[in-house]
Amino acid sequence: MDWGMKNRMARLISPQTGHAVFLALDHGYFQGPIRKLEDVGKTVQPLLPYADAVMVARGIMRNSLDAARTTPVILRVSGGMTLAGPDLTREGITTSVKEAVRLNATAVALSIHVGTENEHSTLTALSKLVDEAEEYGMPTLAVTSVGRELEKREARYLALCCRVAAELGARIVKSYYCEEFERVVRGCPVPVVIAGGPKMESDSDVLQLTYDAVSRGAVGVDMGRNIFQSESPVGMIRAIRAIVHEGATVKQAAEVLAAEKGKVLSKA
Ligand code: R5P
Repeated sequence: MDWGMKNRMARLISPQTGHAVFLALDHGYFQGPIRKLEDVGKTVQPLLPYADAVMVARGIMRNSLDAARTTPVILRVSGGMTLAGPDLTREGITTSVKEAVRLNATAVALSIHVGTENEHSTLTALSKLVDEAEEYGMPTLAVTSVGRELEKREARYLALCCRVAAELGARIVKSYYCEEFERVVRGCPVPVVIAGGPKMESDSDVLQLTYDAVSRGAVGVDMGRNIFQSESPVGMIRAIRAIVHEGATVKQAAEVLAAEKGKVLSKA
């Protein structure tokens, strides 16, 4: 690996622990201002010290992230569809690698839609992006998108998506957690991180999801709503860090979360 690529990967995945906590804040690129991301700058500010990287699109990076902060950015460079449009899988490259370099992104991210009409176009977009990003020593993170189709959150399907993404050159792959998740990791030669999905009712379910994913081989999370829509976003990201980086159990992580909630209550 070239020095630049090695250095960027080390800024994303801790060489000390081999793990990573990415904070996903890119939902607006097709969903608009979802709850708690109306003002990304405000939401992200207390969370930045605990995120190994943040994932955003360029408009939010320019308008809502302080350029003086040095938290690595995974720049979403795909899009072109919205919740209001006819097809959420019709996604293409929206931001050039030159722009990613100008913004000093640490990695670029793009979604692939395997098993849809747009499988071919999103996979060839991934290959094109990898070709260009590799020239600058910039890693590409591929997001395996499953939308609302729950049946696709199965090991067989996700293992296919993750392996194909890695075969086409992604340096990191983002998947959903599923039963037999170890099959997904076993078939994927690059690090896998998991998305959190929609906000869950119970905090302990989020911690359990994180624990199960890391125990079964994920290097960590690229999580959004279950952190920033949490009642205690700082407590949640700290609890997730404890599991991912320190090998905490769900119970220990729940104590980290409870302690943070306690601090907020005592200040009130
Ligand atoms: C899609 O909206 C984005 O790629 C999100 O970053 C991704 O789904 C992870 O966020 P969450 O944990 O909220 O699912």
